[in-house]
This record gives sequence, C-alpha cells and structure tokens, in this order.
Amino acid sequence: MTTAGPTTLVIFGASGDLTHRKLIPALCNLHRKGRLPQDLKILGVARSAKTDAEFRDSLFQGGVRTADMGPSPEEWQAFASRIFYVQGDVASAPGLEGLQAKLGELEALADGNGNRLYYLALAPSLYEPAVNNLGSLGMAREPSSQSSGQSSGWRRVVVEKPFGVDLASSKRLNDLMQAVFSEHQVYRIDHYLGKETVQNILVFRFANTIFEPLWNRNYIDHVQITVAETVSVSQRGDYYDQAGLLRDMIQSHMLQLLSLIAMEPPSSFDADSLRDEKVKVLRAVRKIQPQDAHSHGVTGQYQGYGSEPGVAAGSRTPTFAALRLFIDNWRWQDVPFYLRSGKALAEKTTEIIVQFRCPPHLMFPMAQGADLPANTLSICVQPDEGFHLRFQAKAPDTWFQLQPVDLEFHYQNAFGDQANPDAYERLLLDALTGDASLFARNDEIEQAWMIVDPFITGFTADQAPPPAEYPLGSWGPREADAFIQRDGRKWLRGCGGH
Ligand code: BG6
Repeated sequence: MTTAGPTTLVIFGASGDLTHRKLIPALCNLHRKGRLPQDLKILGVARSAKTDAEFRDSLFQGGVRTADMGPSPEEWQAFASRIFYVQGDVASAPGLEGLQAKLGELEALADGNGNRLYYLALAPSLYEPAVNNLGSLGMAREPSSQSSGQSSGWRRVVVEKPFGVDLASSKRLNDLMQAVFSEHQVYRIDHYLGKETVQNILVFRFANTIFEPLWNRNYIDHVQITVAETVSVSQRGDYYDQAGLLRDMIQSHMLQLLSLIAMEPPSSFDADSLRDEKVKVLRAVRKIQPQDAHSHGVTGQYQGYGSEPGVAAGSRTPTFAALRLFIDNWRWQDVPFYLRSGKALAEKTTEIIVQFRCPPHLMFPMAQGADLPANTLSICVQPDEGFHLRFQAKAPDTWFQLQPVDLEFHYQNAFGDQANPDAYERLLLDALTGDASLFARNDEIEQAWMIVDPFITGFTADQAPPPAEYPLGSWGPREADAFIQRDGRKWLRGCGGH
C-alpha cells in the first residue's frame, strides 16, 4: 500500500463543522508528526466564494486555534501552505468545473497523473449527487493498473456515516457507488474504528492468551456497551431529528464495537480477513420483528428536545435507546448484549463491560442480602482510556469480608499524556495509504441495517408509545432501568463509576 506520487485530498463540505473540528486538526497533527506524504495538498470545496487565505484563516479560527496542544504559528504556516480552496457545488456537474481547473493546476507537476482522495464531508443527502457528478465527469476513473492501488493515479473516496437511512437506501447508495467506483476505491468511515482503545480490543483479545479461553457463553454472563454523551443535539437538530439515536449511534459505532467484541479470531490482520469475521457476527445477530421492538429495547427523549433548533414540534425522535441483542452461534448463544446510548446524559463515557458468570458455589460467608460477586472486565474506550478487571479480595481484618478490587491499566499512565492520536488521524492516514482494515465494508453496513431497521420500524409505528422522557443530566429514562431489571440485571459502570 502506498501514496506514491503527488496526492490531493479534496474535501467536499469544506465550510462544515467536520472539516473545521476534525479533519483539519487531524491533518495538521499528522503534518507536525511528519506523517503526511511530502507532496500532499489539501483542496477544500464549498459553495461560498473564498480565497485560499480566507479559507486557511477560517480553518485556523474554527478548530485549530482552540485545539489542545495546537500547532505553533510556524507549524501552522508550514501546514497551511498545503491548503487551497475552490468554490464549487458538488450537487451539479457544471458546479465542479472550477474544481477540475484547480486540480489541473495543482496536478500539473505530476503530468496530470496525481492521486486523489475525495472526502465527502457532506450532508448525507448530497452523497448521491456528489458520486453521480464525480462519475459523469470521469473523476472517479483511475488507470487500469490501479486495481491494486500500487502506483500513482489512484482515486479513492471516503464517505462519512450515515450510509443510507435504512437497508433499502443503503443498498441504493451502494449500487450507485459501485456503478461509479470499484469497491477497492471506497472507504466508509466509522470514526470509532480509529480510536486507540477500539483497535486495542483486537490486540487485547488476540495477542494475549489469558482471556480468549473464557471469552464465550460458558464464562460470560452478559455484555454491556454504553456510549453516553453529555452534549445535547445543540446545532445539529436538522440532521438529528431525521436520524435519531438508533441511526446515529447504534447502526454504526455501537454495532462495530459489538462485532469486535464478539468476532472469531481472524486468520490474518488484513482488511478482508478482519471484515469477514466482523460481518459473520452481524449476520448471526438475531433479527427481531418490528412488533417485538418494545420487548427488546426502550427509547427515550431528553426534556426540552422538542425546542432545540431544527427539531420538529412534537418530534418522537429518540435521543436515548437501550437494546438487548442475541448472537445466534456456538460462542454466544443466550448471552445478552445490552447496548445503551444517549445524549444529554450525566457523563461522557464509552465503555464495554463484560460480566463473567458468578461462581457456582460460594463457601465464604456473605453479608445478608449481598449479591454473589461476579468478575467484570471493563474496556474504557473514552475518556480515561484503559482496561479494568474487577475481582474479589478479602478485606484485611480479623473477620471475613469480601471486597471487590480492580486491576487497572490506564493509557495515560502506561504511555503518557499525549499517547492517543485522534481517531481521524489514523483513518485519514489509512485512506491515504490504501489500508481499508479500519473502514466498514458494504456487507457490514447492510447487516447492521438489518439489525436496526426492525427496531426503528417498531419504535416509530403509529400505535407505538412515544420515547420516554428523561431529565437532562440523568442516566436516561427509568424505563431503561426497568428494562434490564426484568432480566435480573442492572446497568453497570466499570470505568471510574462503580
Ligand atoms: C458521531 C455522531 O458519529 O459520533 C454524534 O453523529 C456523536 O452524534 C459522535 O456525538 C460521538 O463521537 P465521540 O467520538 O465523541 O464519541
């Protein structure tokens, strides 16, 4: 895999939030670390008229200036000299004439044969016209020697989530993508896969021998995956009210986490072997009928959501959901996987808790009414990245008392303060070097829609109850607690919140 030759990263949606807050700060960091290809240029495309200098300034003001450990003025100047801007409208072919001319200028030194990475940092409704126009203008075509991505002249496209709004629309979008690009050119980004802790799930499971023998229904009682956010939908009401929690978080990020936790060991660390195993898990997730959605999950909406800008009055869009999924295979039969996520919750945390089974018999005296202790392994994805293993110890005293204690690994202690690069750094670099391992393949995305679609249909049916209201800063609606209690379990906190 290589970036050989001059490369232009074309960002469609250059005025947007993603470009300012995530893409440019990540590229700037890569530049500072000397990881960007030497002759990489970044070309922003958006509808408003701007000079290169104005664009650079807006990027600096809009994200880089306020970033933790941002660049020095000299570093920014050096990085900014790679950045250019052209006015263009991706929704119409004539709207891209200026872009073609600018690319011609930038690529002149490469005999018109430079590489291009198109990044669709756009509203999802623009994916279709963007891909159509890139196709009709011949901008997706690469020399035939490119199928391996080995030399210069390649064309790749990065598409942000959500990839469709349901199975049918994701299939349509994919058919269109595949009519214009070949699969090896398409990078469907899920930024959770670029997070260090998420990548470390693979290392933890498959580069150590001590956990894998226990990693199955014989020893694991259940798994909880929580992605809690304190932020509300704030300025994203327009998008969010159409999407809702299940499309925004569960179909993508949370099912990716589930597949990494539940997958079989791949035979090698290449993109297809990894993705083959992930898709097998998603295929094995038991699909529910829409009318059963309420027995397998609950939804909630934070108080005041209806008055957020861009949100329809009386909206029934969920900002919280808790689901229970089962994976029908030998390893996981009957082990529930609980997924819980919400906006405007008490804390920002992403954690995966694996609760092992209780000891079959306890010979120690227990305080009256005390639970039988079970071991838990907590994978703290963010913010305090690490792994915690909870087990029982005897509290030192003259009488016998059990007390849970933790073995903890914190990234910060082990690797220092700045050890974790932003997920976009890793993913942008991978797209530039042609490594698709941490990008979702189309069949994974379709399987994920097959899991989530019946829940969405069931929760939004006319006769379905509205999402349960919950106060800002809480842990979601009471119904979510009642939901898991019906299974004789409770929501757990393993990363700093026991
Ligand atoms: C995005 C969702 O994909 O992920 C947002 O659209 C959400 O709604 C965000 O806030 C969460 O990402 P992170 O990295 O902050 O956990």
